[in-house]
Amino acid sequence: MTTKLIAPSILAADFANLQRDIEMVNKSEADWFHIDIMDGVFVPNISFGMPVLAAISRHAKKTIDVHLMITDPDRYIEDFANLGATNLTVHYEACTHLHRTLQAIKAAGMKAGVAINPHTNVDLLKDVIKDIDLVCVMSVNPGFGGQSFIENTYQKVQRLKEIIVTNNAPTLIEIDGGVTNKNAAQLAKAGADILVAGSFVFKAENQMETIKDLKTLANS
Ligand code: DX5
Ligand code: ZN
Repeated sequence: MTTKLIAPSILAADFANLQRDIEMVNKSEADWFHIDIMDGVFVPNISFGMPVLAAISRHAKKTIDVHLMITDPDRYIEDFANLGATNLTVHYEACTHLHRTLQAIKAAGMKAGVAINPHTNVDLLKDVIKDIDLVCVMSVNPGFGGQSFIENTYQKVQRLKEIIVTNNAPTLIEIDGGVTNKNAAQLAKAGADILVAGSFVFKAENQMETIKDLKTLANS
């Protein structure tokens, strides 16, 4: 079995001490930096944009996993490639021509991800599954950190895993929202490959230890 990965979400970091928090992730057992970009249109919140991502990129020593919660993401694909994104994830609900968007992300040299809202059925991805490097299953409604995990996620992950296996697709499954030590093991068992965790990591007293615990649970 391949190792399950942990991706701390920088949305929950202390922005006044961003470099300190990035160094913590660099030193920890975390695998990826998860970066949430929100535009106040696709989701009812604005997070941060290009200059902050550029600053993060200068210090981050691990995969930069960018989650775009923005309308019409095609406008910025080249920009995110230039800012150092390794993975670029767009929302299914924000893309009229998803297949074209995925090709454009890959042509720009990044891994192509698709995020799905809690109400979006995973079967809608069947026809493009082979073109997707990463499906980000939202286990909360996107827009805010610190929300409660939606239990229906386990079923979605199992079904998505079936679709991936049936199609012999290379797609990884990422879970985003409300991940804690209570659901990490079960999510991994259901088929998740990457667990994103914001509040659970950054609100913890010992953040490095918390990342390590999540990784152990995910690989148990
Ligand atoms: C929500 C973001 C998540 C968020 C997760 O819109 O996409 O990545 O930062 O935060 P927690 O782990 O606090 O739910
Ligand atoms: Zn996210």
